Amino acid sequence: MKVLVIGNGGREHALAWKISQSPRVTNVYVAPGNAGTAKDATNVPIAVTDQEGLLRFAKENDIGLTVVGPEAPLVDGLVDLFGAEGLKVFGPSKAAAELEGSKVFCKNLLHMANVPTATYQSFRTAEEASRYIKERYPEPEDSANVVVKADGLAAGKGVIVCDTRSEALEAIDRIAARKEFGTAGNELIIEEKLIGMEASVLAITDGETIVTLPAAQDHKPAYDGDLGPNTGGMGAYCPTPIVSPEMMEKIESEVLVPVVHAMKRARRPFKGVLYAGLMLTSSGPKVLEFNVRFGDPECQPLLMRLKTDIVDLLEATAEGKLSEIEPLQWDERPSICVVMASEGYPDNYEKGRVITGIDSADELENVKVFHAGTSLENNEVVNDGGRVLGVTALGTTISTAKLQAYKAVKEIRWRGGWCRKDISDKALDARTNNSNN
Ligand code: AMP
Ligand code: GLY
Repeated sequence: MKVLVIGNGGREHALAWKISQSPRVTNVYVAPGNAGTAKDATNVPIAVTDQEGLLRFAKENDIGLTVVGPEAPLVDGLVDLFGAEGLKVFGPSKAAAELEGSKVFCKNLLHMANVPTATYQSFRTAEEASRYIKERYPEPEDSANVVVKADGLAAGKGVIVCDTRSEALEAIDRIAARKEFGTAGNELIIEEKLIGMEASVLAITDGETIVTLPAAQDHKPAYDGDLGPNTGGMGAYCPTPIVSPEMMEKIESEVLVPVVHAMKRARRPFKGVLYAGLMLTSSGPKVLEFNVRFGDPECQPLLMRLKTDIVDLLEATAEGKLSEIEPLQWDERPSICVVMASEGYPDNYEKGRVITGIDSADELENVKVFHAGTSLENNEVVNDGGRVLGVTALGTTISTAKLQAYKAVKEIRWRGGWCRKDISDKALDARTNNSNN
C-alpha cells in the first residue's frame, strides 16, 4: 500500500518514519515534508492548503491511506473532501475538528457533557470582554487570575495567561481589538486560571471505540524552569509518572468517553486522534483544551515506543473497525524528545543556517533525530522554521533516556541553535514528591 502523510513538522516525520516500518507499505509520501522526510520517505511539493492538489496526487498515485498531521487542513475539511471521493483518510471531519478549531464550541460541548474544565465566559467584542473584567475586578491594581483565549486557530499563540487586571485588559485588546491573531479573535473566552501540573493524554477513536495512548508531558514555555514565552512545545517525554493508572482511568471515564459520546450526539462523530490537554488540579483533572491530531512534540516520543504496526491502527480507525484491533504493544522503555530551536524563536528568526552533526547523532544507540523546520539547500540541511529538530531517545529509565537524548543534542550544531536543558525533569520531581508523601 502507498501512504500519504500531510504536513511538514516533527510529528509528520515521526509518522512517516513509523509508517515506513510497516511491512504492508511500499511507499510513503509526505506533502510537503522536510529534509528528514526526504530521507525516510519521498517528499511531494504540495502545500497543506492546496486541497485540490493533494486530492489529485492521491488519486493519480493510487494512495491507499492518507494521514493528515496538522490541525489547519482538518479544520478546513480536507478529510471530508477525500472521503467524498472514496479515499481512505485518517483524521476527523471538518465538523468534528471544530473541537480544536473553535474554543467556544469546545467549551460549550464540555459544559453540556459535564466534563471538568475551567469556568468560562465567551464574548464577541473587546468592549463586552473589557466591561466584564472591569466589573469583576473594579480597582486598577486588582489581581486577576484569568486566561484570555482567542476562539480560533492561532498556532498555539492565542492564549494569554494573566495575573492582573491590566494584563487581562491588554490581552483582550491584543486579541479582540488589535486582532493580533487575525480572525481567530472574532470571539474570545475568558476563563479561570487553573493551578497544577499539565499532561497530554491522547486517544485514538473511530467514534465508538477509544484506545488511550500512554500519557505524555509537553514543555510549552521557551526556557528552563518553565520561564519565558509560550511556544509550540520545547520537548516531551512519555510515559509520565504524574498520571497514575488511577488518574488515567478517571481521565478516560470523566473526559474521553463523555466527549466521544457528546460528539456523536452532536452529529459530529469523531474519528482520529483526540488529544486532551489537561491540568491536574487538586480537585482532579480538568481540560485545558482539545486538539484533534497528534501533539507535536508528544507524537515523537510516543511513536518511538509504539511496537504495533501503526498502519493497522490508522486504517482500522479510518474504517471504523477499531474494536477489531489487538491491544497496542509498547516498548517498556520511556522516551524523551528534546526540541532544538532557531535563534530568536518563538519570535523572529533567521533561516538558512547550515546544520551539522545530525548523522552522528542519529547513529547513537536508541536515538532518532526527527526533523521539523528543516529543508535541503545545495544538499545541506538548513534551518527553515522555529522548531528545527526533535532529538528523541529511549532509555531504561527516564534519566538514561534524557542522558542519551542530550548526548545526541551535543553532536548537532548550527549558529544560534538552542534547546531547553531540563526536558523530563518534572518526572523526577514528581517521583521525589510522591516518595515524600
Ligand atoms: P491551550 O492552547 O488552551 O492549551 O493553552 C496553552 C497553554 O496555556 C496551556 O498549555 C497552559 O499552560 C496555559 N493555559 C491555558 N488555559 C489555562 C487555564 N485555564 N489555566 C492555566 N493555564 C492555562
Ligand atoms: N504539543 C502541543 C500541541 O501539539 O499542541
